[in-house]
Amino acid sequence: MPARFHNPVATVFGSGSLDQLPALCPGKVALVTFPEARGLGLVDRVQALLGERLVHVIDDVQPNPDVAWLRGEHERFWAESADCDSVFALGGGSAIDTAKALIVGTASGRFDELLELLAAGRPFAPARCKRLVAAPTTAGTGSEVTPWATIWDAQQQKKYSLHLDCTWPAAAIVDPELMLSVPAGVTVSTGLDALSHALESIWNHNANPLSDTFAISAIEDILDCLPRLHNDLRNRELRSRMALAALKAGMAFSNTKTALAHSISYEMTLRHGLPHGIACSFTLPLVLGLAWGRDAARDQTLRKVFGHDLEKAQARLRNFLHSLGVKTEFGDYGVTPAEAEAMIDFAMQGARGRNFIGSRAA
Ligand SMILES: NC(=O)c1ccc[n+]([C@@H]2O[C@H](COP(=O)([O-])OP(=O)(O)OC[C@H]3O[C@@H](n4cnc5c(N)ncnc54)[C@H](O)[C@@H]3O)[C@@H](O)[C@H]2O)c1
Repeated sequence: MPARFHNPVATVFGSGSLDQLPALCPGKVALVTFPEARGLGLVDRVQALLGERLVHVIDDVQPNPDVAWLRGEHERFWAESADCDSVFALGGGSAIDTAKALIVGTASGRFDELLELLAAGRPFAPARCKRLVAAPTTAGTGSEVTPWATIWDAQQQKKYSLHLDCTWPAAAIVDPELMLSVPAGVTVSTGLDALSHALESIWNHNANPLSDTFAISAIEDILDCLPRLHNDLRNRELRSRMALAALKAGMAFSNTKTALAHSISYEMTLRHGLPHGIACSFTLPLVLGLAWGRDAARDQTLRKVFGHDLEKAQARLRNFLHSLGVKTEFGDYGVTPAEAEAMIDFAMQGARGRNFIGSRAA
């Protein structure tokens, strides 16, 4: 079958690329950003770049956007800022995913109308939508080059996945300078999220040589850079290489979606409170074992990265995670072997789990 690759996001990459914002973000703009952005001088910088075109600022985005908080923000945004043309998301995946939820307006103006559409799980045309521009301040989620947003409902122990044509960002600005202030723990968890995107795009029914090209390159960079960056957080060259690696991993899974490790991660985040990047990476050695030997073409790609010996490949991944302080067994997180088995079985049946080449549900 011919390989296809499609990604409509106009992407600029490199130190200082935030200066491109005025050209990429037309009309009146609403800024959606994380709480530390003001103290870091980022809100002032955006204000200076956009001048009077910046008409609305939401700067209290919390990690993992939850319906309990989003409901009020969404309804206020559409009541007060319906006249803005673009939304500029400046932050980690939480700010970018929040912005993706905000730009999708409902006919009634009620946020719950959007949730009902997402819960129904059928494609829908949004009543209204804004143009989105995204600048990641973490090197992890790749959300700047994907159409997906994860919306959490911690109270109901659920998550929703939003995905529409209009939730592809129109443009992504990947400026590694914005990542220099990311603390050590977030640097590790976001970097591992990117590693997980790249690997999940390989052991995936939707993979092809084009997505593999991005994935292999991202994995090589992350395995080499992340431990060094962890010990040298202000290193501009390493920040830049990790920013590019996360972008490449995002490009890879923008065409394949994620797979089993992510499907398992949702339970680990909702039930055990693990940060997203740790939840979707601690199982990577295990999932590599479940993927190995399932599909000759996928094995070939995995061998390009890890060589021909599965045990050595798993040991390499495990040692890499341990060197970053990440434990790799379910038991380390208080999950019994029986619970882990049930969680893996359940995850195999999920939408992302079914993308996995070793899925028992496929
Ligand atoms: N849409 C997608 O394709 C996709 C993919 C993976 C993850 N996600 C979602 O992304 C979210 C996680 O995003 P994340 O891992 O980037 O973390 P995050 O956005 O939650 O940020 C983590 C923490 O770092 C802070 N922070 C962010 N940038 C900073 C900076 N430059 N300096 C100092 N502090 C900074 C934030 O305020 C926050 O406290 C989750 O909700 C997850 O579900 C989405």
